[in-house]
Amino acid sequence: MTHHEGPDHDHDLDDDLEIPAPGLHRPRRLRRSGVLRDLVAETRLHPDMFCQPHFVLPGEHRREDIGSMPGIVRETADMLVKTVEADLKLGLRHVLLFGLPAEKSPTAESALDLDGPVPVAIRTLKDAFGQDLLVSADICLCAYTDHGHCGVIEGETVDNDKTLPILAGMASACALSGVDIVAPSDMMDGRVGAIRVALDLQGLEHVAIMSYAAKYASAYYGPFREAADSAPAFGDRRSYQMDPRNAREALREVQLDLDEGADIVMVKPALAYLDVIRRVREAVHVPVACYNVSGEYSMVKAAAAAGLVDLPRIVMENLHAMARAGADVLISYHGREVLAEGWL
Ligand code: PBG
Ligand code: ZN
Repeated sequence: MTHHEGPDHDHDLDDDLEIPAPGLHRPRRLRRSGVLRDLVAETRLHPDMFCQPHFVLPGEHRREDIGSMPGIVRETADMLVKTVEADLKLGLRHVLLFGLPAEKSPTAESALDLDGPVPVAIRTLKDAFGQDLLVSADICLCAYTDHGHCGVIEGETVDNDKTLPILAGMASACALSGVDIVAPSDMMDGRVGAIRVALDLQGLEHVAIMSYAAKYASAYYGPFREAADSAPAFGDRRSYQMDPRNAREALREVQLDLDEGADIVMVKPALAYLDVIRRVREAVHVPVACYNVSGEYSMVKAAAAAGLVDLPRIVMENLHAMARAGADVLISYHGREVLAEGWL
């Protein structure tokens, strides 16, 4: 048996070691009080930065909870207008609309329907609130195709070029209904250019494009696919959405979208891609949006419900991280609770 020398209990650290005081440099001076920390805060969130996503049902008088996303609903345009009216009073002035069409088909005909849920919601909201509300519409086919892919299928693959005119038609239906911004999220090559040309030919050059420029093939979209009923029936989206291992490629996607006429570029998801937000912010001179997606939202809600984390603190930490990384626009399901609960 080996004998260990026990700790020397007579040993006095203070006598042996001269520990230097910090001297002049004490960053803690600026952390002494809340008002002082607020004075020197480098990142500030403002209600104007937020965009609240909504899921729109066809018809009237219906509102449904979404099991995968506590606190978020699907609702018809007549109900949505009441929700948005309340949000406007909180200072939440920007919405992003997703539709759940009555009918799905291989080539997404219902995406072009002027009486589809999203065009109806756009007209209802614009009639009610005009320029007091900024309305964006997601442009993608996955909720409108019976196979759940973001474009039309040809053989075994999503056919890029056959999808473009349908996306342009969907964007046109939204633009003709009065939308302020169209937000293509499909990740087909050339879709920004196709949409820009189609809108301009119809005298809709004032409608802006916020492109999901760096959109990754992400497991964080899980809860959304229940909300929007848009899960692919076969395969996955990795042949069109970006590989999570790539960041340089995001800069290429962003540059292409800008060359095609994008006005705002988006990085999606947000939290696992803060480095991409930062790099895009440093590479371009247009506004950068980020999408704090459904999985990020639902994980935070579930962890807070389980008592593992403090909801207001973790939500605000996450949102500040996105802004600190360089995002100008925060698309987040948390927007309403942040403003309603006074967390800002
Ligand atoms: C449609 C679309 C998706 C999201 C936004 N637009 C889903 C997907 O690409 O599978 C995800 C939003 C979220 O998870 O909150 N293409
Ligand atoms: Zn899609």
